[in-house]
Amino acid sequence: MTTLEGSARNKAIEDNNFPIQAVRSEFPALIDKKSGKQIVYLDSAASALKPQCVIDEIAEFYATDYSNVHRSSHSLGEKATARYEGARCFVQKTIGAKSRNEIVFTRNATEAINLVASSWGNAFFEKQSEKRKAIAISAMEHHSNLIPWQLLTQRKNCKIVKIPINEKGEIDTELYLKILEKQNVAIVAIAHISNVLGTVNPIKKLIAQAHAHGSLVLVDGSQGVPHEQVNVGDINADFYVFTGHKVYGPSGIGVLYAKEKLLEDMPPYQGGGEMVSRVEFEKSTWNELPWKFEAGTPPIAQAVGLEAALRFMQRIGLETIKKHEEALCNAMLEKLGKVKSLRLLGNSQRRAPIFSFAIENTNAFDVATLLDKQGICCRAGLHCAEPLIRGFGLPGCVRATFAIYNSESEGEQLIDALRKAQQMLC
Ligand code: ALA
Repeated sequence: MTTLEGSARNKAIEDNNFPIQAVRSEFPALIDKKSGKQIVYLDSAASALKPQCVIDEIAEFYATDYSNVHRSSHSLGEKATARYEGARCFVQKTIGAKSRNEIVFTRNATEAINLVASSWGNAFFEKQSEKRKAIAISAMEHHSNLIPWQLLTQRKNCKIVKIPINEKGEIDTELYLKILEKQNVAIVAIAHISNVLGTVNPIKKLIAQAHAHGSLVLVDGSQGVPHEQVNVGDINADFYVFTGHKVYGPSGIGVLYAKEKLLEDMPPYQGGGEMVSRVEFEKSTWNELPWKFEAGTPPIAQAVGLEAALRFMQRIGLETIKKHEEALCNAMLEKLGKVKSLRLLGNSQRRAPIFSFAIENTNAFDVATLLDKQGICCRAGLHCAEPLIRGFGLPGCVRATFAIYNSESEGEQLIDALRKAQQMLC
């Protein structure tokens, strides 16, 4: 297998100074095992493929160091605990959290948001004295950053206020400030990067503005961590969540970052083993942070795999990845702009290489099926952001996401395949 180490790095520079072939060779799923043909995978916003080093790390862990964690005093138990807690410290350093106590492992980003909406939300809105009743949610949110808050409004006396977006698919900052000024916002829930529009929100500024009005902010970083170097301290997020499977790691693990003081004051989310300190039959006391929020056997091998995935990204280099994706983004904007009758959703100044589009007089699922027949994997539908897509007057759209292993020539293949699909359908 070619890796990016040593001379291969220099030899493999092919795409805007990015060693695309060396990177691609690390992803076994990019080659169809039956036909031996390369797969054009443009669905990384749904889930990214996994490099061999992540697959190997997980297999090796199960084969050598695996056991349950925090429970057993035997040597395997100690080794597994060290690996699991080591992964937590690695995540902490990667996203710039102050303490490992601020990193809670969950099942995915959705569970992390549900944890906050349940634990923090229930406690906050229970206080009779609390005047702040609004949860401000941007119009571009994934269902995972909307439904948990809707459920909270059914349990507690609080309401959702929509933060509108402009025609470019960016947060309408004037209206955002008005909402903060007038609506007594308890918490702002907002994506770092939209999974539909590719918009990169000016998260640091939006957080500072919310804080100036006494509101907390939860950032859904599911599309943020795959594309940006995130530092939760620098942006001053109160809560920041992301998921393993979109950063080239395994599914089954998500991360909740929260400021320690917030986590200390929050009641447990789920009950069970590990999250307790002393258990009596009628009542119990809770474990320390972060384990207070990790009931039951946690995603142990997934944490090890997540660390391997983040190490992989760091080996390539976050700046290098960003430059590669920016070049892809610019090239694709130009190419997509030339496809007849194609309507691109969102045209933000700052964007990630996530392109959602509709082609006049075609059904998105038909287009995606015809792309698939030409070896190109895209997603069609509502992309778990139904209010946003219906707001564009569409029943669905096609989405192509570019990631670390995608090249400009794949972008050209997409355009050719789209033109063919168009000829067949129109
Ligand atoms: N959140 C994933 C997507 O945007 C599933 O496709």
